[in-house]
Amino acid sequence: MANCVRCCCWLLVLTLMALAVTAAVVFVRYKNNGGGFPFPAGVPDPKYADALSIALNFFQVQKSGKLVNNTIHWRGDSATEDGKEEGVDLSKGMYDAGDHMKFGFPMAFTATMLSWSVLEYGHAIRAAGQRDSAMDALGWIMDYLRPLTKITPKSPGSDVAAETAAAMAAASLVYKPINKTYSLSLLDHGERLFAFADKYRGSYTRTFPELSKYYNSTTYQDELLWAATWLYHATGNISYFAYVTGKNGKDFADLGNPRYFSWDDKRAGTEVLLSRVSFFASQGSDVVQDDVLGLYKQTADAVMCILLPDSETAAFRTAGGLLYVAEWNSLQHPVASAFLAAVYGDYMLSSGKTELSCSGQSFSPADLRKFAKSQADYLLGSNPMKMSYLVGYGERYPQRVHHRGASIPADVDTGCDGHEWLESSKPNPNIATGALVGGPYKNDTFVDSRDNVMQNEATTYNSALVAGLLSSLLSTSSLPQSLS
Ligand SMILES: *[C@@H]1O[C@H](CO)[C@@H](O)[C@H](O)[C@H]1NC(C)=O
Ligand SMILES: *[C@@H]1O[C@H](CO)[C@@H](O)[C@H](O)[C@H]1NC(C)=O
Ligand SMILES: *[C@@H]1O[C@H](CO)[C@@H](O)[C@H](O)[C@H]1NC(C)=O
Ligand SMILES: *[C@@H]1O[C@H](CO)[C@@H](O)[C@H](O)[C@H]1NC(C)=O
Ligand SMILES: *[C@@H]1O[C@H](CO)[C@@H](O)[C@H](O)[C@H]1NC(C)=O
Repeated sequence: MANCVRCCCWLLVLTLMALAVTAAVVFVRYKNNGGGFPFPAGVPDPKYADALSIALNFFQVQKSGKLVNNTIHWRGDSATEDGKEEGVDLSKGMYDAGDHMKFGFPMAFTATMLSWSVLEYGHAIRAAGQRDSAMDALGWIMDYLRPLTKITPKSPGSDVAAETAAAMAAASLVYKPINKTYSLSLLDHGERLFAFADKYRGSYTRTFPELSKYYNSTTYQDELLWAATWLYHATGNISYFAYVTGKNGKDFADLGNPRYFSWDDKRAGTEVLLSRVSFFASQGSDVVQDDVLGLYKQTADAVMCILLPDSETAAFRTAGGLLYVAEWNSLQHPVASAFLAAVYGDYMLSSGKTELSCSGQSFSPADLRKFAKSQADYLLGSNPMKMSYLVGYGERYPQRVHHRGASIPADVDTGCDGHEWLESSKPNPNIATGALVGGPYKNDTFVDSRDNVMQNEATTYNSALVAGLLSSLLSTSSLPQSLS
């Protein structure tokens, strides 16, 4: 398997390398010393704590490179030479999904979301005994992202560069209380990457059309706003605030129109993240008075309104109660939305705002939490199929996940052909514990077959989203504080 991983990966890595002229700075692998967050310990709900530990396990399954303290008996080292020709170490990072390729764009999003989860719910993650696991996953991705600091002006990729800048800004906040030097270096890289992304504008999948069949980035503007918002939180530099609320915000944010958060569209995430400023900025601060900030907040409210089942603006959901936005990877939107709802409800609670108004109807933080919980419970088995979509959780979960490593016995040499196993109807010989599969159809049914890529492939970024959602549900209340 290792050989094949390498040959499949190389083309992509080389393509990414064209995007990424690498920096000379090589960092020593960061060691997490378990430094603290200023949060009190919550009392974790055992059900969600159990599910969180399972979900985080998927990051171990997806690791590339020379494995350290590997706990997955059917995984081995892979892609250990990635980047060597360019003189940099790109061996780490994580495969995106079941076919074992590494893509910077969704991987950076994974790191951003893991960081956001740790920042908001680090106390609960720690109380559930999962902090080391979350930090290990984040560190493994940051080790991969760090050599990629420059993209050529002639081959712009504002989306991938800005998402990487967002990941660096968010991770710099996570590491700030643990390792100041490392945190500052992440921030420095993040700021430089963002400046580059903004100056040489273009979408990476227009620059490299061959990548558009994998993670086609619809636009890069949403990533610019998302990155600037993270950089504002990480630096407190008002110029990033001015960036999102000035012309760029007006041109790119499409304020007033609620969207669903996903790896491709960061607008809803940006609105919620920026709403921190509206909720928590001290009275009399300049930014509180900003009109455009108010529009972001209103749009964040509207994002919440379309999620609430009893709201007149509620979006479609299945008979079983799952928010349904897209058939491919149908769990992505409900999980990402549920995370935002939990975060937003906690912002409301912490800032003493008890009412969310949706076209005159009134909702509370408890309504948002109830929605978040309903989506988590659905994917954990409270659904018409009575099936958990998180592999390894509960008694019934998919047995034929579209995942090369899980589908092929560990000891066979396949070369680059795995069709014999892809087409087999037998259950996977290895369990990809923690995989969150794509999810059900609109009618709440699901077909557990290995070539059902639409429903039965797991993705690394889905795991970051579900880890965030489960973290948010560990305790009944949280005390989100200023990020900086
Ligand atoms: C691997 O395990 C050893 C022994 O338990 C430990 O000392 C070391 O810190 C671990 N390494 C990592 C990267 O977790
Ligand atoms: C902090 O991070 C740097 C890498 O930037 C590393 O060299 C150093 O060992 C780390 N310090 C601690 C205390 O972990
Ligand atoms: C990628 O996104 C662009 C912009 O939305 C679109 O024009 C193009 O058709 C998409 N390509 C694929 C392969 O989906
Ligand atoms: C804030 O960021 C801008 C642009 O990124 C930079 O030019 C400026 O020096 C920064 N200001 C401070 C106080 O660091
Ligand atoms: C559910 O929807 C799928 C996809 O549209 C369809 O193939 C399947 O037959 C439906 N199942 C039932 C029980 O209606």
